Amino acid sequence: MREAIAEINKGLEDDIRAVGTVQDLDELKVKYLRKKGPVQGLVRALRDISPEERPNAGKLINDFKGSVEDRLCQLQESFEGEESSRRLEEETLDITLPGRRRFLSRKHLVTQMLDEVLDILSGMGFTVQYGPDIETDYYNFEALNFAKDHPARDMQDTFYIDKDTLLRTHTSNTQVRVMESNTPPIRVAIPGKCFRNETITARSHVFFHQVEGLYIDEGVTFADLLSMLEEFFQKLFHDQDTKVRVRPSYFPFVEPGMEVDVSCMICSGKGCPICKHTGWLEVAGAGMVHPEVMKSGGIDSEKYTGYAWGLGLERLLMIKHGIKDIRLFFENDLRFLEQFA
Ligand code: FA5
Repeated sequence: MREAIAEINKGLEDDIRAVGTVQDLDELKVKYLRKKGPVQGLVRALRDISPEERPNAGKLINDFKGSVEDRLCQLQESFEGEESSRRLEEETLDITLPGRRRFLSRKHLVTQMLDEVLDILSGMGFTVQYGPDIETDYYNFEALNFAKDHPARDMQDTFYIDKDTLLRTHTSNTQVRVMESNTPPIRVAIPGKCFRNETITARSHVFFHQVEGLYIDEGVTFADLLSMLEEFFQKLFHDQDTKVRVRPSYFPFVEPGMEVDVSCMICSGKGCPICKHTGWLEVAGAGMVHPEVMKSGGIDSEKYTGYAWGLGLERLLMIKHGIKDIRLFFENDLRFLEQFA
């Protein structure tokens, strides 16, 4: 057995001297370590050895097998070392080359405006609550004192899913839900997507975002609503020369109701197609919560009063950045979005 091992070992050493490439080495590994190779041949030869000598011979074979594996492994490591030093010598690193630009994702500008609005409102004591995008006719209209034949229920304004289910047309849908599950004082901000079956124009879309505000407590007055709106818009447009005005308006769920306009920054109040040549852009509806709505929400309107408003985030962005077309928000054109990092 010792002679057989010595012979194989000699052959191995000769073969190792002849190895010039990684491929030669791979072939050598296959030659010596495969099942039908010379080392395994020694194992097979054990059968012909007497039982007394077999343990010793077995040990010799095992030790030899280990030494062949170690030898080939060392050779592999030295090849790899040479290969990497050769590569390091050949390769040059040009540290003057400009780096590769990585495109990081960032918040959509509607989300940026939402964050800003919620930040201001939370500073004024409002907490955030959410309502469903898919809503019942009851919460979107009926509980808000909409008469059965109110035009806003018309198929032209509302995307109905079935007779009683629709895509909410405004975040006011969540008012009564909030009243049902909270007791005054209630001071919440409700952000959300809204959907209206309207013609898409430069200032109106079928899909847009609103933030609703609702404040109910003892002794809340119309003057509180006006001062809150003034403070809010001052904070939002802090360093911009923005004027705010209110006009009486009708919403079935408030009394009195009004519309809130902000001076048009696209034309600096001079008049342009976006503000319909008025110099003002409507950004919100607001008013004192109607007693009928309080009743729907299970709140005693003799004891409590409240105000509510709903503002459009895209309209605020159009004013803030002088954006002339609401459609730009939803086209996902990076050339547009990247300007608002
Ligand atoms: C409402 O949606 C009322 N729910 C607001 C309200 C809440 C009134 C609480 C009183 C009390 P209005 O339809 O005017 O109101 O919409 C409010 C704001 O949403 C608008 O001023 C505008 O900024 C935005 N908005 C409305 N329709 C669209 C549209 N099609 N595209 C983009 N923004 C819109």
